[in-house]
Amino acid sequence: MTIDQFNFAGKKAIVRVDFNVPLDENGNVTDKTRIMGALPTLKKVLADGGAVIMMSHMGKPKGKVNPKMSLSQIVKPVSEALGVEVKFAPDCANATAEAEALKPGEALLLENLRFYPEEEGKPVGVEKGTPEYDEAKKAMKKSQKEFAKKLASYADAYVMDAFGTAHRKHASTAVIDEFFDADHRMLGYLMEKEVQAVDNVLSNIKRPFVAIMGGSKVSSKIGIIENLLGKVDKLILCGGMTYTFAKAHDGEIGDSIVELDKLDVALGVEELAKKNGVELVLGSDCNATNGLDFGTMSLKPGAEIITCPANKVPAGFEGVDAGPASQEDFRNAIKGAKTILWNGPAGVFECDAFTAGSRAIGEAIAEATAEGAFSLIGGGDSVACVNKFGLADKVSYISTGGGALLEAIEGKVLPGVAAIKGE
Ligand code: 3PG
Repeated sequence: MTIDQFNFAGKKAIVRVDFNVPLDENGNVTDKTRIMGALPTLKKVLADGGAVIMMSHMGKPKGKVNPKMSLSQIVKPVSEALGVEVKFAPDCANATAEAEALKPGEALLLENLRFYPEEEGKPVGVEKGTPEYDEAKKAMKKSQKEFAKKLASYADAYVMDAFGTAHRKHASTAVIDEFFDADHRMLGYLMEKEVQAVDNVLSNIKRPFVAIMGGSKVSSKIGIIENLLGKVDKLILCGGMTYTFAKAHDGEIGDSIVELDKLDVALGVEELAKKNGVELVLGSDCNATNGLDFGTMSLKPGAEIITCPANKVPAGFEGVDAGPASQEDFRNAIKGAKTILWNGPAGVFECDAFTAGSRAIGEAIAEATAEGAFSLIGGGDSVACVNKFGLADKVSYISTGGGALLEAIEGKVLPGVAAIKGE
């Protein structure tokens, strides 16, 4: 069943959206990409004459109520974006009355699903590996089903449109489907668009294909990096990962972020790139400082900023952005690309002094896109960069997925997609 084939007139649809959006300290949404991404599906249900029940998680409250992660904070921006006054159900597992009261054209948002441990389905209060754990897991599986059944009871149809969470096997993404017949469960428009964008990168590759992976840890990206080394022509590795590679060659990295237990992994990446004939582009220089306050993302009084080779960072300094030579290398590597994937910034772009590396990448991608490349940007930080630099309308597709996008590009079947297909 596709969403276009389904007529929601007089029906209630429960839609799994990913409203895990960043908030500032006052609870204001700082990036609305995910809210905007959900609109086509939500509007289709309403336009058909249906009522919509939105459910999502926010953050990682670990099965407990946490007001800082309450979705009540986003009722206003969602209402504004949707053009309908959204009602709020303060307890997602006890919202029968609110759901029943919904009339065609109305919208309801349920409180954070992860306030219940059943959403993630992990046993609480028992250690993995203990005899009690297996029992607790069995019990949790049962209560997870009950939880999903309760959510399903609010609606006539289920729409999965949370691409950002489709890699999670949770109650609302991969259990709830069991309670709807195949012709009453479907993927939403955002899922369809995201899957198409991934397909452009995976199946319809136009070459040269250049991927840019940034961020702080090699460990969290190693799966996708190894996978990409079998697909791309050039791979730019930037951000905090740079210093693990520098250290692997006995470089001096001062106080820069490093994974000392992943030095062999870094060397393995270099080997694999060589073997596969992939041009690996690593930052040769960096901008480093001895005074970045990571709490406020600002420079402390008297902080110094220097440019130095990425393998000669002085003691007391930390590499926090790509240097001018690296920026030039990144630009040159992206120039002429026909398929581009970017995930992860090249520096601490949240601080205005260290945006240059990520900006160079974003601008080079925009230029290549203007010359006909297909560019896919994913992951909260890269998306924030593209927005911050005013480049959002100069790239081909901005994904709402971080981990989900990477898993999809690795070729993994996303549980949220498999569930709809009944797999
Ligand atoms: C994300 O932000 O990538 C998604 O909302 C999934 O969140 P999670 O990593 O907490 O499951």
